[in-house]
Amino acid sequence: MFAFAKQKLMPVVIINDVSQAEPLREALKQGGVFTAEVTLRTPNALRIIQIMSEDLDFCVGAGTVLSPGDADKAQSAGAQFVVSPGLSIAVVDECDRAAMPYFPGVSTPTEIQRARDLGFNELKFFPAEALGGAPYLKAVAAPFHDMRFIPTGGINLKNVDSYLAVPQVLAVGGSWIVSEKLLAAGDFSAITSLTREAVSQMNSHSI
Ligand code: 3PG
Repeated sequence: MFAFAKQKLMPVVIINDVSQAEPLREALKQGGVFTAEVTLRTPNALRIIQIMSEDLDFCVGAGTVLSPGDADKAQSAGAQFVVSPGLSIAVVDECDRAAMPYFPGVSTPTEIQRARDLGFNELKFFPAEALGGAPYLKAVAAPFHDMRFIPTGGINLKNVDSYLAVPQVLAVGGSWIVSEKLLAAGDFSAITSLTREAVSQMNSHSI
């Protein structure tokens, strides 16, 4: 996929303060990250997607897309891809209609096979740690040699290497880079440092 081909780290962002959209984007860019998933979990998420998308060098996706309406609004706001915690046929149909890249979430072999039947080969794997972490992902992915995964859920700098060691992992998502605490403190330089640290650790793996 366009963005993940270059970037293995996908920051998952829960943000509501519109004034933080631009500084956050700049902090991530300075840390070497040019894509982020902004979740539709806050009242201002769509406006934030809009602001972050104003920079054409930065690719914003919408996360927590639960309905076709969410996908439609996210696209109008400037999102270039959408992500769901699970697989929604209604969202699949809407994304097909709108030619919007969609990354549905899966957690079992049956769900992976169903997504594959529908023509998907790049999937969110969620909630990664709670499901059993990298050993479970490795086992469940093994029969699906043509599928690629973006694990998220409970991933941080301490366990990220175990996921990157799974050959079918395309990128890794997580909220640890843009934590609620750092946003509340407006500590964008810490966000840049964490991003840089994660990028450097993750670039030592070849996917
Ligand atoms: C997601 O929305 O992808 C996950 O909730 C992110 O999980 P994390 O907060 O455990 O990183």
